Amino acid sequence: MKRVVLAGGSGFLGHVLARHFVAKGDDVVVLIRRPSAGLVDARGVTWDGHSLGNWWRVLDGADVLINLAGRSVDCRYHARNRRDILDSRVRPTRVLGEAIKRCASPPRVWLNASTATIYKHSFDHPMDEMSGVIEATPEAKDLFSVEVAKTWERVFVEADMPCTRKVAMRMAMVLGHGANSVYPVLRRLVRTGWGGAMAGGKQFVSWIHNADLCRAVDWLIDHDELAGPVNLAAPAPLTNAEMMRLMREAHGALFGLPAARWMLEVGALLLRTETELLIKSRRVVPGRLLASGFDFQFATFDAAVAELAGSFK
Ligand SMILES: NC(=O)c1ccc[n+]([C@@H]2O[C@H](COP(=O)([O-])OP(=O)(O)OC[C@H]3O[C@@H](n4cnc5c(N)ncnc54)[C@H](OP(=O)(O)O)[C@@H]3O)[C@@H](O)[C@H]2O)c1
Repeated sequence: MKRVVLAGGSGFLGHVLARHFVAKGDDVVVLIRRPSAGLVDARGVTWDGHSLGNWWRVLDGADVLINLAGRSVDCRYHARNRRDILDSRVRPTRVLGEAIKRCASPPRVWLNASTATIYKHSFDHPMDEMSGVIEATPEAKDLFSVEVAKTWERVFVEADMPCTRKVAMRMAMVLGHGANSVYPVLRRLVRTGWGGAMAGGKQFVSWIHNADLCRAVDWLIDHDELAGPVNLAAPAPLTNAEMMRLMREAHGALFGLPAARWMLEVGALLLRTETELLIKSRRVVPGRLLASGFDFQFATFDAAVAELAGSFK
């Protein structure tokens, strides 16, 4: 039995991973800001995400730390939200580094959330950890997001610790049923007739099924040779048009109205979100996972969506 500490574990991925580790019989501790946050058979320990308190003791003797803390990026990027998006990632990462340094017996491995959005907007060049380009593109409106990702990873790298292996999980969009997962949003669009291509549909979408995310996290924990950035994305990114076609097929939708870029801009304004989440081309592939022998259970989008659509019934 391992002790796994999930920082920022009260959200979508926290629930997915807590359920996964609890089912395996591990001792799961979730660092939460509000004691009321619903937990699945895990112990909750309160922290504030930025200052060192007694909570650091749960890390002493723990096997694994997984940090998922970060305010949702599904919002308008005005000044206050920009500050919150950045601070809510950088400050928990920094204080967790300080906490680990206090431990007599620090966690063997620390997996810190990062994002596949760190890679350049790309239609033709698959981005793996070796040859992927880290750069923003004005057309994709991703200057802010790429800066956040770079700063987040830099703070993680700066946390210097001799006994803890560190992995930055560059996650693509995770498909699952939870609130904050994009799958229920896509499903709703498809079922209401709005499941056509978006902004021309040529942009690539990287994704990973939540079951493979859990399996990849296990893999990262077990493979001591894996440190540094690792892409957590299925090996087959697809275009937005293809993704929406497969969504329509899986959910029996006979048609799907396409949305032009200007329509998305208006919609994003009304829904208080940003079009970058839809228009940026994320062609991210799992170079290091595949090279180390990881096998995806859901390697294609149609297989992933068939499972998710099936488990709704
Ligand atoms: N879901 C995806 O598809 C995906 C893909 C790539 C990367 N990521 C990254 O993975 C992480 C987890 O994603 P998620 O989908 O689980 O997000 P989520 O459902 O929004 O959960 C975010 C978690 O971060 C905590 N948090 C927010 N602001 C915080 C702060 N200032 N200090 C400490 N904790 C704070 C929240 O705690 P409270 O309950 O206290 O607010 C919650 O536990 C995020 O950093 C996200 O950017 C997610």
